[in-house]
Amino acid sequence: MIKKLFLLLALTGPFAVAVAQPAESDDDIAWGEYLTRIGNCAGCHTATGGEAFAGGRPVESQFGTFFTPNITPDPETGIGNWTQEQFWRALHEGKRADGKAMYPACPYPNFTRVQRSDVDAIYAYLRTVPAVKQENREHDLDFVASMRSLVSVWQALFFKPGVYEIDSGHDGRWNRGAYLVEGLAHCNACHSERNAFGASRAGDNAPGARIREWYAPSLYSSEEAGLQGWPVEKGAELLRTGKADDASTMGPMADVVYHSLQYLTEEDALAMAEYLHLLPNQQVESTVRLLSVSKPRLETMQAAGGKIYEESCQDCHGAEGEGSIAAPALAGNRAVLMRDPTNVVNIIREGGYPPATAGNPRPFGMPPFSHLSVEELAAVVTYIRTSWGNDAPPVSTANVR
Ligand code: HEC
Ligand code: HEC
Ligand code: HEC
Repeated sequence: MIKKLFLLLALTGPFAVAVAQPAESDDDIAWGEYLTRIGNCAGCHTATGGEAFAGGRPVESQFGTFFTPNITPDPETGIGNWTQEQFWRALHEGKRADGKAMYPACPYPNFTRVQRSDVDAIYAYLRTVPAVKQENREHDLDFVASMRSLVSVWQALFFKPGVYEIDSGHDGRWNRGAYLVEGLAHCNACHSERNAFGASRAGDNAPGARIREWYAPSLYSSEEAGLQGWPVEKGAELLRTGKADDASTMGPMADVVYHSLQYLTEEDALAMAEYLHLLPNQQVESTVRLLSVSKPRLETMQAAGGKIYEESCQDCHGAEGEGSIAAPALAGNRAVLMRDPTNVVNIIREGGYPPATAGNPRPFGMPPFSHLSVEELAAVVTYIRTSWGNDAPPVSTANVR
């Protein structure tokens, strides 16, 4: 009876995040699975080609390479012996079962915002996945960073555990979006530069961050990845389908959409897009030093780039960069215009597919142009950044290199 009342309150209250449910019911486990997807636990805790949640995937950082641990219910090599309480402390306080501090390479500085009933549901779900016997691999870190005892010093300086608190100045949908974006979905774990000690600088006019040789642009700038200038529906569409109008997702972001965001309910996607839409729009610090290119040099590059474009790109992206059914527009595309050219260089060199999602089940791909020399790459990138009204700084051969 009391439980029913709580359920009702939770559903009708301004902040219908989760519902108290009897432990380990099927609903609880299904809810836990949904949440586990939003947290993309499998994305990090599964090695390429490995068993789900058995760990072993490398996570690069400024301090070296972490190897994710096994979080399947295997009692010896996984977390089969962990109690619900120990699991809560891991996600909420960044403490392992043995009480030692966890490296923030597991995004618990975000997960700490997640309320207890949601963490318990994740725990319940993880107990139902197949147990896999697979020993954890040791991290490969710099000498100083490898001292786990120092992580508790880090926590004292940069980490404050605390569940998300409702902001009464905003409605339920905004709060739900904030709860997910700042918490379980840990967007800023990638999208914000970290300070010298590895703590996120989100919102602090900070640029985005380097991740696996890509640049995760800032969510606080509409010139980068910010959704401030987009209708909320378009933002929600990008999150769930990996593409929207002239925008499409690539590299690590395509993985996030594929493993995680495509499973969002429409309401949750709209809530996240609304929260992102209302984030302050900041001028973020410049991320790259672009070398200047002389006028005659620029003209030579544009001519060479234009020729490559006509031969190799135009069929898909259009003579005026207007795009086609097979490819996004490049004219006015902020991924092209963004000061940092890293992602554009990557996608041309390596090609790529937007993720296959229910909303975009058979995506058109971009073929790799790995045969282009560094000079040719710089020329075609410069061409698309300076044509059809695009007005981004040219990219020199040295910068591409
Ligand atoms: C960005 C990658 C990443 C994501 C996403 C991630 N983790 Fe982790 N996780 C790690 C790393 C790296 C460690 C090892 C940290 C350490 O050694 O202190 C870890 C450690 C853990 C541990 C401690 C295990 C042990 O044996 O010490 C648990 C439990 C855990 N993660 C659960 C989760 C859950 C649940 C999720 C999803 C809600 C999740 N992680 C998402 C990278 C990740
Ligand atoms: C594993 C790292 C990672 C995580 C986690 C991540 N992103 Fe990204 N994101 C990237 C990278 C890298 C890019 C740049 C490539 C691209 O444009 O697709 C990007 C691009 C974007 C873009 C710009 C798309 C465009 O074309 O303008 C948006 C919006 C975005 N991310 C939102 C989010 C949100 C919201 C979350 C959390 C739910 C999130 N990201 C989580 C790495 C990440
Ligand atoms: C067969 C069609 C095709 C050809 C040819 C092609 N592209 Fe693409 N291009 C695509 C598709 C599809 C995407 C979206 C890929 C993704 O999201 O991973 C894309 C994405 C891009 C992007 C990123 C835009 C964004 O918003 O994410 C750039 C920049 C780009 N292409 C430039 C080029 C250049 C330069 C050439 C020629 C050297 C070229 N493309 C040739 C289909 C094509």
